[in-house]
Amino acid sequence: MERKILVTSALPYANGPIHLGHMLEAVQTDIWVRYQKSIGNECYFFCADDTHGTPIMLAAKKENISPKELVKKVWEEHYRDLTGFLIQYDNYYTTDSEENRGFAEEIYNNLKTSGHISNREIEQSYCEHDKMFLPDRFIKGTCPKCGTPDQYGDGCEVCGSNYSPKDLKDSKCAICSSVPVLKPSKHLFFKLNDFRNELHSWMNDPSHLQESAKNKLMEWFEVGLQEWDISRDGPYFGFKIPGEENKYFYVWLDAPIGYIASSKNYFKESEAFYEFWKKPKENTEVVHFIGKDILYFHALFWPAMLMGSGFNVPSRVQVHGFLTVNGEKMSKSRGTFIKASTYLKHLNPEHFRFYLASKLNDGLDDIDLNLDDFVSRINSDLVGNLVNIVSRVSTSILDKLDRTLGSVSEEGKEIIDQFLNAESSIKNYYETKNYSKVMKELTTLGDIVNRYVNDKAPWVLIKTEPEKTREVITTTLNAAKIIAVYMYPVTPNISLKIFELLNLNKEDLNFSNTNSLLENTKVNIYKPLSVRVDDKAIKMMVEESKEATSNKEKRKEDKKSMDLITINDLAKVDLRVGLIKNANYVENSDKLLHLEVDLGEVGIKNVFAGIKSAYKPEELIGLKVVIVANLEPRKMKFGVSEAMILATGKDADLSLMVPHRNSQAGDKLK
Ligand code: 2FM
Ligand code: ZN
Repeated sequence: MERKILVTSALPYANGPIHLGHMLEAVQTDIWVRYQKSIGNECYFFCADDTHGTPIMLAAKKENISPKELVKKVWEEHYRDLTGFLIQYDNYYTTDSEENRGFAEEIYNNLKTSGHISNREIEQSYCEHDKMFLPDRFIKGTCPKCGTPDQYGDGCEVCGSNYSPKDLKDSKCAICSSVPVLKPSKHLFFKLNDFRNELHSWMNDPSHLQESAKNKLMEWFEVGLQEWDISRDGPYFGFKIPGEENKYFYVWLDAPIGYIASSKNYFKESEAFYEFWKKPKENTEVVHFIGKDILYFHALFWPAMLMGSGFNVPSRVQVHGFLTVNGEKMSKSRGTFIKASTYLKHLNPEHFRFYLASKLNDGLDDIDLNLDDFVSRINSDLVGNLVNIVSRVSTSILDKLDRTLGSVSEEGKEIIDQFLNAESSIKNYYETKNYSKVMKELTTLGDIVNRYVNDKAPWVLIKTEPEKTREVITTTLNAAKIIAVYMYPVTPNISLKIFELLNLNKEDLNFSNTNSLLENTKVNIYKPLSVRVDDKAIKMMVEESKEATSNKEKRKEDKKSMDLITINDLAKVDLRVGLIKNANYVENSDKLLHLEVDLGEVGIKNVFAGIKSAYKPEELIGLKVVIVANLEPRKMKFGVSEAMILATGKDADLSLMVPHRNSQAGDKLK
């Protein structure tokens, strides 16, 4: 039976521009949707801007416009950027819509009637000056754990600890800097735990979640499912809660309901809406693509809200990792926080899709966009291999053959059969979101046909055997036709251009007719399918993405992107106090000194240290220093170094780390 699939990707927040991180998810989803459509399933792709909450309200205030005006302006930018990457939505809507208000109220009322909403008074930080309750992100202060100033109310960006704003030292309102007070107010809560058993069986169905996502959820289950605060006091940009005074739905309540609202706005009164959301599922599926940071919302709150209010639960929540650039978190100062619009100014959207597809799989690991690797993969795997199949036979050689194909030879049929045999695994890889495996198959197929063309050398053959040449080209372009179908979900425009070249109808660009041969037809004039990436374009994009960042911000960014280690990792390093017993110059070395360091019970170790620029041997003897005692011995030109001495700075400013107070050789650092 044909499947009917409603697909969503997470709704981008209207507080900032679309960047390449968003594009990772949009592309992953779009490839899947295009694939489903191209195998003949009835598939819809819905998304929207996520528009409510305090940050939007305050951003609008700053710009001196109403939140609705801000949301409209941002919607246009978001839609332009997302579709610029060839993301083909069936509807891209907004959560600030009447449909969304209606469903938020319906779901809330149903949950309330069934007893799944509780209320109680809680104390929260309130700014007397701004006359509003302050969300955690709008309180700043000193981290109670590590003492770093200027941290948000929900957690420290430097030491990574999470806390409540009440624990923050010297907290201040992030808007006006005055000191907040604690003020009680009634809040409404969703009783998540009421759905414990239903959720447990939902998440244990492997069709619903990846194994690693389920494992993460199990950890939360074991800690216990807490009631969820779904209300916020006014002033707040959002929907008023029915039956309450000055209370609004928390943005995260109505955000996922935006999936329903976007589809309602598309389907209107058609039966399809009910089939997806309300009627018992037969051949309908709802599939959400999300990042791993919002798993809790989508795999606990969201299904529970649906279970408790008479809507269908998701068929699958598909989780992906984050996008890193050059191996690190995207950074404004390094120019790797790349906005979608900046990318589009300098580079081709299909190249990004192609590169991501070659790295994406079904897992939750982060995906790295390495800019050097990007250039070489596009230039070799896409342009040098797949595009080359078409370009090398479609210009002057075909002109000499009246641009007309012949028939596929027996040898050619063998090649085409290899292409057709790959179809079922390619389909399986698309279906299971293992796109990197699709791309590997495509490269292998590309290699096969390119090798065939190399062997036949049609540019030589044409001089003596035009009809044999025609056979070679017919086989090659039949292979290209199949490649166009296989690549279509990833690079739709390239595939369309191949179909145009071959005089084929774009409606036939799908998996239903891969095995029909193209023979004795005319081929159109070749227009370039895609061109190589120029290094310069990458440099310009990175330059343009560099934001003037103060030193303080840079340090903060560096700290944020630091790889954290666990206490167990740290325990592996044996740091000890070492007493320098002897120190000497090393003959023929302008950097090194040779030290003999007493490490107490560990014994005396030889250390070759690059500290000659700042120390004379005689001033070192008797000095206590800090030593990494368990470093694997390293063979150097002048001897074996058995440990490492810790220092900071360089050249004449090099400075050894020394224990501040009394300590003994061999003392361990704690
Ligand atoms: O994390 C975010 O950016 C949210 N705006 C995602 C919302 S997804 C859905 F729940 F609406
Ligand atoms: Zn304030």
